[in-house]
Parts: sequence; structure tokens; C-alpha cells
Amino acid sequence: MATTQSQDDVVAGPPVDVVIMAAGKGTRMKSRLPKVLHRLGGRPLLAHVLDTAKALQARQAIVITGHGAIEVEADHACSALAAAPLTLNFVRQEPQLGTGHAVQQALPLLADDGVVVVLSGDVPLTQAATLFHLIKACAGERLALLTLQMPDPTGYGRIVREGGAANGQVQAIVEHKDATPNERGITEIYSGIMAVPALALKRWLGRLDNQNTQGEYYLTDIVKFAVADGVPVVAHRIEDAVQVAGVNSPVQLAELERAFQTTQARRLMDEGVRLADPARIDVRGDLLCAHDVSIDVNCVFEGKVNLGLGVSIGANCVIANAVIGPGAVIHPFTHIDGESVGVTVGAGARVGPYARLRPGAVLGIDVHVGNFVEIKNATLADGAKANHLAYLGDANVGERVNFGAGSITANYDGANKHRTVIEADVHVGSNCVLVAPVTLGAGGTIGGGSTITKDTPARALSVARGKQISIPNWERPKKILKV
Ligand code: UD1
Ligand code: CA
Repeated sequence: MATTQSQDDVVAGPPVDVVIMAAGKGTRMKSRLPKVLHRLGGRPLLAHVLDTAKALQARQAIVITGHGAIEVEADHACSALAAAPLTLNFVRQEPQLGTGHAVQQALPLLADDGVVVVLSGDVPLTQAATLFHLIKACAGERLALLTLQMPDPTGYGRIVREGGAANGQVQAIVEHKDATPNERGITEIYSGIMAVPALALKRWLGRLDNQNTQGEYYLTDIVKFAVADGVPVVAHRIEDAVQVAGVNSPVQLAELERAFQTTQARRLMDEGVRLADPARIDVRGDLLCAHDVSIDVNCVFEGKVNLGLGVSIGANCVIANAVIGPGAVIHPFTHIDGESVGVTVGAGARVGPYARLRPGAVLGIDVHVGNFVEIKNATLADGAKANHLAYLGDANVGERVNFGAGSITANYDGANKHRTVIEADVHVGSNCVLVAPVTLGAGGTIGGGSTITKDTPARALSVARGKQISIPNWERPKKILKV
């Protein structure tokens, strides 16, 4: 495989240090949230870039922060880095005087023996394989630029080549605002991503000035210095614009979200998942599917979700942090969220439509949970049923229990939560209130409308409600007519 090949080469080559520029303001997002913390596929943009750094087996990633630095630095914990073998360093750039000035801030942390890969925190979809190629082109001694042809290159730095020829030696990068009309005609642009030997980078950054239209220190000016020093500059040109697309506005964020989701939908289908419409699924986390899973339109998956063999998910379900057993059917409009605790649905279970499973819901084999039933921190053993309009919270529900429509566990006394235990084969009628802590003995029956405050014996009929009376010939009050 191409990727593995280049990976081996990199492992054999000099160590890689990744520098991620993330100090910019992101004005066009019109948001209080720092740009790199906006989410793509449910995770901050920066987390995607850090994943790429991880895939490169980088020795370290240095994130240059500025605007919203405190928030960005605090948030890194949530990017699941704790378990990752990547050293993460943050460096502040204050004020922000340009991309060259940004990378200058990282220099004290960069050893001379490495290759530095420069990335941006707002460019989330670069593939590691592409960067392996770039690192290979750098080969520890050249300046390697990732470039791209753009029909409309407005705003980008242009790749100026010797004699203007498509394959002429790269001479310089000229920023759009500094470009002559002739240079603006160039359609090959600099993506913002480069691989450069650390030692040379240090030398060149020391020579930067800000004598340009924007009064900024341009990282891109190092190309001129490389040329002057006789260091070869190589361009690795790619076709896939998505890989270098940055997020500057909500529109661009939404576009990249779609691109990201399309890739995930394809991967799922390649694994055999049947998607009713690959354009109408959102995976914001890790969705793992066995064979013969089918997913109807408009479903959202978050966190870690595991779908077993032959699982069927109806339209408009939101499922987060859950394990769904083989053959289970989740009917439309069901909301499942295990949060940090998880939800488990047993083999062959049927859930929904319009059901809600909350953290700690554990359903056994062939359990049925119907419409407008909410389950939280409760275990339903094999074959138990709660088919309509019910709440089961903090409960152990035995095998084959039938929990009637409108019945609830009153698990909260205003201060503490208490458990309800319903033993096997209990039949709870409609509209019952089970005031916890309480235990219903095996095989018992609870009459409809009962408020149960004491334990009930096994196999008994327990009824706790006002006795029915009838008053004969009852005259209903009459409406008083006003004149
Ligand atoms: C830069 C390149 C341009 C390239 C384009 C690709 C320069 C001078 N120009 O342009 O050739 O075509 O990217 O998108 O490098 N940042 C900082 N500190 C700063 C300035 C920027 O951290 O002082 C960060 C930004 O947050 C962003 C990244 O650097 O993540 C790129 O900055 P941006 O202003 O988008 O670069 P451009 O000027 O568009
Ligand atoms: Ca800029």
C-alpha cells in the first residue's frame, strides 16, 4: 500500500515536528468561540489536525495560539490526546504579526535535527498520506511546498516558477495582495502546508521582514531565501482541494462537514452498511458496524456507537454512546444517549418509535420498549416489555415483566434517588406509580391506577387506589345563563 510505504520511509527519515498555526482571529466566523474549536464531525477542528500529526508519528506538535489562547489550550484535553503518543506543546503568539512571526514563536522548541511540517489549525481534512509524500519530497534537506491548481486563486499565495513554465523551478511565493497583475494570473497556489528542515527554517526565519502590502512577516518569504541559498524548493502538487481547504466562515465549515460526512458514509458502505441515503447521515464520532446493518435517513451518531449484526435503525434516530445487539430494531425517532455511562440494547430487542434511552439503560434479549417510554439507569431483563408511555428510572426489571402504559417509577423523593425492583413475571397495570424504594415480588400483579408504596408479595394481586363507588341518579350542575 502506498501509505504504508511512505510511512516506512518517514520512520526511517529524520524526526518530524509539527507546527500548527492557530493564533488567527477567525473574524468571518462571527463567533465568540475561537475558530479552531468549532466542530467538524463533532470534534474541534484542531483535534482533526492533531490526529493527523499523530498519524505522522510526529515527535511533537507545537500549537501556536493567540486569539482565544486560554480556551484553545484548555480544550486540548477533550481531544482525547491523553492516551496518544504525541507530545503537545502550546506557544503563544501575541500580537499576531503574520505566519512567519507565528512559526518564529515555535523555534525555541524545535531541535535542529528534525523536519518541520507546518499546518494550520483551521485546515482539518489533510490526509496523512499526502503529508508523508511531502515529507518524502523534503527528504530532510529540501523545502517542500504543498501546492494546488485553483480555477479562482484569488486571495492565495501564488507559486512563481522559473520562466513561468508549469514545471519550472519554484522561485518564490507571492501573496495575492503583493502580486502583480501578471502574477495574479498564476493558478498554482500555495496550500499553506510545507515541510522544511528545522535548521534551514531557523536560518531563514531570522531574515524575515515585514516590508509588504500587509506589513506582516510572511512565512512564504522563506522560499526566496531557500532559492538564494541554493536549497532546492520542490512543489508537491495535489488535485484534492478538500485536503487543504480552510475554514474561514460558517459556509466553509458546513461545506467541509459535508465532505467529511460523505467520506464516512462511503467508508460505512464499503464495510457493507446499507445507508438509505449517504447524503443524509451524520457520524460525529466512531460508528462501528457489523454486517447487514441498515440505516434509514437522517440519523445522527455521536461518540462511540456499536451496531451488531443485522441491526436496523429507522429514520430520524439520534444514537450516542451505545451498543446495539445483533438483530435489534430501532424504530424511527428514537433518541439513545449513553453519555459517559453507556446504553446497551440486547439482541433482538425492539425500541421505539419515539423511545428515549438514557445513561445506564441496559436492555436484555428481546426486550420491547415502545413509544414515549423513557429509561434511565435501569436494567430490563430478557423479554421484558414497556410498550407505551412509561418511565423506568433506577430500576431492576425482571424477565418477562410487562410494564403497563402510563406507569412510572417514582425514583426521586426530592433529595435522593431510590431503586425499584420488579421481579420476574410481574405484570404492572396501566397508570401505576411505584414509589421507590420498593420491591414487587415475582409473578405478582399490580392493579391499574395503583400507587405502590410498600413491597408487594410474590404471585399476589396488589391494588392501591380509591375504591370505586357509584352515586345513583347523579344530577350534573347546569350552566347559569346570564341575560
Ligand atoms: C496563507 C499564505 C498563503 C496561502 C494561504 C493558504 C502566508 C503569508 N500566506 O495566507 O500563501 O495561499 O495561507 O490558505 O503565509 N496565523 C497565525 N498567526 C498570524 C497569522 C496567521 O497563527 O500572525 C494562522 C491563522 O490562524 C491561520 C494560518 O495561520 O490558521 C494562516 O493564516 P491566514 O491569515 O489564513 O493566511 P493567509 O494570509 O490567508
Ligand atoms: Ca492573513
